[in-house]
Amino acid sequence: MDKKILLSEKDIPKNYYNLAADLPFQLSPPLHPGTKQPVGPDDMSPIFPMALIEQEMSTQAEIPIPDPVREAYAIYRPTPMIRATRLEKALNTPAKIYYKYEGISPAGSHKPNTAIAQAYYNKMEGTKKLITETGAGQWGSSLAYACNLFELDCTVYMVRISFDQKPHRKTMINMYGAEIYASPSERTQSGRNVLKAFPDSPGSLGIAISEAIEEALQEETSKYALGSVLNHVLLHQTIIGLEAQKQMDIAGDYPDVVIGCHGGGSNFAGIAFPYVREKINGKDIDIIAVEPESCPTLTKGKLEYDFGDQAGFTPLMRMYTLGHDFIPPVIHAGGLRYHGAAPMVSAILENNLMRAETLSVEAAFSGARLFTKTEGIIPAPESSHAVQMAIIEAEKAREEGKEKTILFNLSGHGLLDMSAYAE
Ligand SMILES: Cc1ncc(COP(=O)(O)O)c(C=O)c1O
Repeated sequence: MDKKILLSEKDIPKNYYNLAADLPFQLSPPLHPGTKQPVGPDDMSPIFPMALIEQEMSTQAEIPIPDPVREAYAIYRPTPMIRATRLEKALNTPAKIYYKYEGISPAGSHKPNTAIAQAYYNKMEGTKKLITETGAGQWGSSLAYACNLFELDCTVYMVRISFDQKPHRKTMINMYGAEIYASPSERTQSGRNVLKAFPDSPGSLGIAISEAIEEALQEETSKYALGSVLNHVLLHQTIIGLEAQKQMDIAGDYPDVVIGCHGGGSNFAGIAFPYVREKINGKDIDIIAVEPESCPTLTKGKLEYDFGDQAGFTPLMRMYTLGHDFIPPVIHAGGLRYHGAAPMVSAILENNLMRAETLSVEAAFSGARLFTKTEGIIPAPESSHAVQMAIIEAEKAREEGKEKTILFNLSGHGLLDMSAYAE
């Protein structure tokens, strides 16, 4: 049995998979905050290029991946699937544990999968500059990387607490040629409003999104890019699960359990949505999103229409939310500090096609420690939530004496998160 299941570059998927095509229920549309009517393409065109707006609204199952995007993916894709044999042994479990490793991308996580696509579509429509937010810095460095590939300028608003905790992400973003500011900042009205009320605000993804959108609205050739939550972002990430399905076939296995950590929903959707399609078609798969106890959007949030950002620039989206002005506690897994959840993930949770669990930071980090000692890869603090949930499921299999196949997404490495582990 091979430890790693590798694909060749010709196996990079030719299409993204759009779960909206197969859902056995209607998705609630995003609403204009003023009129409360569904938003149309024109409402979104000031901040997104038309190709992405079309993807956002599409119900077509297969959306072709342009050749220049597949060529850019080839730098790091297909990513390996690895059997965690040493972890299985340490747990003395009959379960087989596989993980899809997205940490080999240049930025160290799954985020370039959508950053490359977004930069490409923007470039094709004449955008000169992309502006974005970032939590832990994985998304900001991915967009900076992708903008550099397609010769676009890039500005990143990084949540203040992560900006202070992870100075090397700032350096990385600068290395790719992008500008970066701690958020809340004095550069935007939304930032200034927060600083006036809370001068020591640690920031939040919601605030940083408001700042980025505000700046993007000021120039016609500037657009905004979001690293999670929206349908088109989740769509781009499905290449993870599509590759994983081929790799599982090669391994001659099929997952009983599929796990991803959950911040806004993109890496979870990436690994899970191609399997949600199979679940809709009758397969018995336990699909689990894992979030931190301190920001329990899916497990304790309300399912209602809310803004995606703090200042209320985005359309209202029907999603699990802790409230758009909720400032999550400061935690090391900065990428999981988001008040909302992807509307499509929210809808499949509501319709029992998946479940959600929370973990304490101690539990997640104990999983990261065992994984590091057995498999050698230090997971991103966000990804450590998926690692620990895989461990919990493998322990359950041992207790029940069941042979189970567990697949989880290792969404990123933690080599720039050492201060978190040191603490
Ligand atoms: C490594 C990693 N995993 C997961 C996440 C959570 O985001 P999402 O839920 O969109 O995958 C982030 C966000 O920054 C991240 O950096």
